[in-house]
Amino acid sequence: MPNKKGPFKKPAPKPAVTESASTPAPATTKKSAQPLQVVRGMRDLLPMDQAYWKQTNAMAENLAAAYGYERIDTPIVEDTSLFVRGVGRATDIVEKELYSWETAGGESLSLRPEGTASVVRSYIQHGMLNLPQPVRLWYTGPMFRHDRPQSGRFRQFYQAGYEVIGDADPVIDAQLIILGWNFLKGLGIETTVRINSLGTPECRTNYKNALVAYFRSKKAKLSEEDKKRLLKNPLRLLDSKDPVILELKAEAPQIVDWLDEESKTHFMRVLEFLDEVGVPYQLDPYLVRGLDYYTKTVFEWYANSDDQELSQSALGGGGRYDGLVESLGGRAATPAAGMSLGLDRIVSRLKEKNPPPQDHRMPHVDVFLAQLGEMGRKRSLALYEEFREAGIPVGEAFSKANIKAQMEIANKRGAKWAIVIGQKEVLDGTVQIRDMDAGSQEIVDVKKAVHEIKKKLANGVDTPAATV
Ligand code: HAM
Repeated sequence: MPNKKGPFKKPAPKPAVTESASTPAPATTKKSAQPLQVVRGMRDLLPMDQAYWKQTNAMAENLAAAYGYERIDTPIVEDTSLFVRGVGRATDIVEKELYSWETAGGESLSLRPEGTASVVRSYIQHGMLNLPQPVRLWYTGPMFRHDRPQSGRFRQFYQAGYEVIGDADPVIDAQLIILGWNFLKGLGIETTVRINSLGTPECRTNYKNALVAYFRSKKAKLSEEDKKRLLKNPLRLLDSKDPVILELKAEAPQIVDWLDEESKTHFMRVLEFLDEVGVPYQLDPYLVRGLDYYTKTVFEWYANSDDQELSQSALGGGGRYDGLVESLGGRAATPAAGMSLGLDRIVSRLKEKNPPPQDHRMPHVDVFLAQLGEMGRKRSLALYEEFREAGIPVGEAFSKANIKAQMEIANKRGAKWAIVIGQKEVLDGTVQIRDMDAGSQEIVDVKKAVHEIKKKLANGVDTPAATV
């Protein structure tokens, strides 16, 4: 069973209720409640950051359309066995980082740590192999890993992912890399892709044996943790940050020497396609990735930066996974490839490049409804609906009676016009339209208010109003 050290513990039992129904409730001593905090490793995406998220999500959606991907949304909760079989039992993600729990019915469920396994499950479950192949699917949403929180590493984080199922051609791998590179470039983030090939499972087994033999010969230098890794998942040693491993790695066997002809040719073709489009890449013979499903091409994007931390934290990654469909119970020999981008890290790059304004800006409106007295307020409330239905950005401060306070808000929201309605206007069936810059005003039939504002917006200038 994965996740022995995982985040979930049994809930503490509720205290037994001992008082009888007739026991009087204890007198409450007024104590102010402690404010609750967000869960460690998780965070709020606040209004001031939403513009960056919107920009990033729009890029994800636009590129999905441009490259012919269809949207898919899978549940956040899946059977734990999907990730054990899909991502791999001996990976950190499954072994240490899954949020798993057992239901009353005895099922083991988990919050998804990534999207690929779920998309492949869905492809199989819904018979998508009967559609024209390849099937291109994209998604975005939260993923959960009980990792050690640190800069750029959260326990709930967001990915945009793109999966191409049912095609073995290296051009698919290359186009996924091009998509990711364009995604980041389009947001003003220059990156280099680090790329490697893990070959077929057979090449990988032979390479693993060579790697184990090499690190065994250096066993005396390895930490206890690394000795365990060597037994369970020796490839993981290659992305260890431990200085001893970094030094030993320089002499370690490289997978490229263990690739069969087909894998080598596939890899060369991917590189040729990247050259053709001019996507900068760097060969990284030790790039292995933290998920077990990869075969052949693997890659990760890194920002071009002198900053150590930036250049070490991947903005996204992916690769080919030709065996996953079959290992999750689908038709044998269904090749596939995919990638996902880490949106939290991308948004934080965007914020660094273009910091948010210090003062809190209220959303902009074109017109603001200001009211005086109860009758004016009721009429304004109804008029607000007319503006909203007409699609004109409109603001209000219905809970405020003071006209000066209302005008200040109108100014803060950048309204070009204020519509003032008091008792007199209600009785006359009119409104006052005030030009906030010029300070001029005009009286307009209430039924024509929306039309008048529309006209002004269309002209971009004041037009003579139909006075009554
Ligand atoms: P991954 O490399 O585990 O791959 O995650 C992709 C990206 O998600 C990372 O490069 C990183 O930017 C972001 N990320 C991962 N963990 C965290 C975290 N704890 N906090 C913040 N960001 C994080 C996958 O998940 C694969 N499913 C990619 C794929 C799709 N391969 C084939 N298809």
